Amino acid sequence: MTSARRIALASRPTGQPGRDNFRLEAFDLPEANEGDVTVRSLYLSLDPYMRGRMSDAKSYAAAVPIGGVMEGEAISEVVKSLHNNFVPGDLVRGRTGWSSHAVINGDQLRRVETHGAPITTSLGSLGMPGFTAWSGLKFIGQPKQGETVAVAAASGPVGSMVGQLARLAGARAVGIAGGPEKCAYVKDELGFDTVVDHRSERFASDLQTACPDGIDVYFENVGGHVWDGVLPLLNQFARIPVCGLVAHYNGSGSADIDRLPATMSTILRRSLLVRGFIQTEFAADHFDEFLDEIGPRVASGEVRYREDIIDGLENAPEAFIGMLTGRNFGKLIIKIAD
Ligand SMILES: NC(=O)c1ccc[n+]([C@@H]2O[C@H](COP(=O)([O-])OP(=O)(O)OC[C@H]3O[C@@H](n4cnc5c(N)ncnc54)[C@H](OP(=O)(O)O)[C@@H]3O)[C@@H](O)[C@H]2O)c1
Repeated sequence: MTSARRIALASRPTGQPGRDNFRLEAFDLPEANEGDVTVRSLYLSLDPYMRGRMSDAKSYAAAVPIGGVMEGEAISEVVKSLHNNFVPGDLVRGRTGWSSHAVINGDQLRRVETHGAPITTSLGSLGMPGFTAWSGLKFIGQPKQGETVAVAAASGPVGSMVGQLARLAGARAVGIAGGPEKCAYVKDELGFDTVVDHRSERFASDLQTACPDGIDVYFENVGGHVWDGVLPLLNQFARIPVCGLVAHYNGSGSADIDRLPATMSTILRRSLLVRGFIQTEFAADHFDEFLDEIGPRVASGEVRYREDIIDGLENAPEAFIGMLTGRNFGKLIIKIAD
């Protein structure tokens, strides 16, 4: 038996999660059965959706049970394989959780493929978040030459890809980010046409100035006061892929005022298309197409990204809590082992 470490959900948070909602514990890996693969985790992806899994409110996926290992995707090395597709030493990606080791059926693993980019990109720009940006724009936002595309959390893995893909489509990319350092990165390094700081008191008027022709595609990542600034600027027939609402994930607070009348009347008057989506809707049919199209561009540096890599599984709770208020700068990843 291999002795391993994992982070379990100790209790359900009310509002902002705290350290005491998580528990670091040792456990014995179960014996592998036919078809199983035993893996050693190298890098764990931390993503905003995990806040939803900590809650037992009705959602599109089941909650993590109290005492259960926190859900998440990791890059791992195969140490033992009872599955035909894998041998020890293979690098794989799968939903093995916040855990140093795991035993998982090989059918649930994917080989890490990055077209020569660093393997960690398979958790970010070439993984689920990058695919989310690509599929939300391709199937819902559909930016056209000369249109204006706005996106918040613009320095993160989803937003950074949205803006760069919008520019590749010939649209004007307007980023929204928190603080001067993230804003400078979004404009100077990611190449967005312009950027607006949502933490500024002048956010709404700055956004208006940044969008002189209004907004044709708003890729919704955050909700809250950012949505208040965007709503009056939406053009007739604007498309709004609703991807995430991170400002609301911790529940009640100033973000949760009633926006329904203003939102619905704008949808009606401006003939808006508002379409929510979870990337899994498109992944089975289109992930490989995404990887073939964007992989070489990430590997060559044409499409850029930033990673925020924190050492040590034990530091995952603190890093995750910080991400929900914008303390991460780039795709948040926990390095578990060399
Ligand atoms: N639908 C899907 O299938 C799917 C898949 C993946 C991700 N998502 C969603 O996509 C969004 C972005 O994900 P990501 O992984 O790229 O996250 P991320 O950018 O790495 O991290 C979240 C960012 O949200 C911003 N933020 C936090 N609280 C905010 C607030 N109150 N107001 C405005 N901004 C706030 C912060 O950036 P600033 O400091 O710049 O504000 C923070 O860094 C999330 O809502 C996530 O749930 C959806």
